[in-house]
Amino acid sequence: MDNALRLQYLDAMGIDVWIPRHLAPSHLELPSVAITSCVETRPESVPVSDDWDTLAAEVAACTRCGLCSTRKNTVFGSGNKNADWLFIGEGPGQHEDEQGLPFVGNAGQLLTEMIRAIGLGREDVFITNIVKCRPPNNRDPHADEVAGCHDYLQRQIALIQPKIILAVGRIAAQTLLGTDAPLSKLRGRVHNVNSIPVIVIYHPAYLLRSLLEKRKAWQDLQFAIKTLQKQ
Ligand code: URA
Repeated sequence: MDNALRLQYLDAMGIDVWIPRHLAPSHLELPSVAITSCVETRPESVPVSDDWDTLAAEVAACTRCGLCSTRKNTVFGSGNKNADWLFIGEGPGQHEDEQGLPFVGNAGQLLTEMIRAIGLGREDVFITNIVKCRPPNNRDPHADEVAGCHDYLQRQIALIQPKIILAVGRIAAQTLLGTDAPLSKLRGRVHNVNSIPVIVIYHPAYLLRSLLEKRKAWQDLQFAIKTLQKQ
């Protein structure tokens, strides 16, 4: 991405200061953000033993729902398999379906900048989605599609053992937390899945359309850093 576009993205998020990559989040001086806690745990069972190759092969060959008939590629996820930070989006779009990688379109470029804004790169975090195949015409995933992928995501979480999960956007947040509460009610609180803190952030596709929310997006990231620092 060229620098001008990057600056445009940062500006869209209300970030006017670059944070050098070498500054780990734990070194960042952050303004205080009100923190309220709530616990919305969905107890999950995960296989006793599992490994990435088995899981990736299962996802690649998956026929658990109808999305297998329209997908070009499954989108397993990418990044650091030992990451502290796990970003979970909704599902692949057209570009992701074509490339087999998560968040590679316009929204993905903004997500990359959001990750850079917390002092990390995509290679430092793991990025995946609630569903691993593209819902046609970018519709929301149906309940049976989410259910079909549920155990893949749980197994990814169990293998990565992240210190923090960022639910990217409403669908990811509601699915992960098992609630139909609106995003406005889910932001700014520490949720919990399998004893891992979950922070809900705006979806970058929404931020690209709603620049009024840009400051709140940066607040969410600051809140996530603070939450991780407390772990
Ligand atoms: N939106 C998502 O939620 N996930 C992607 O991978 C791409 C766009």
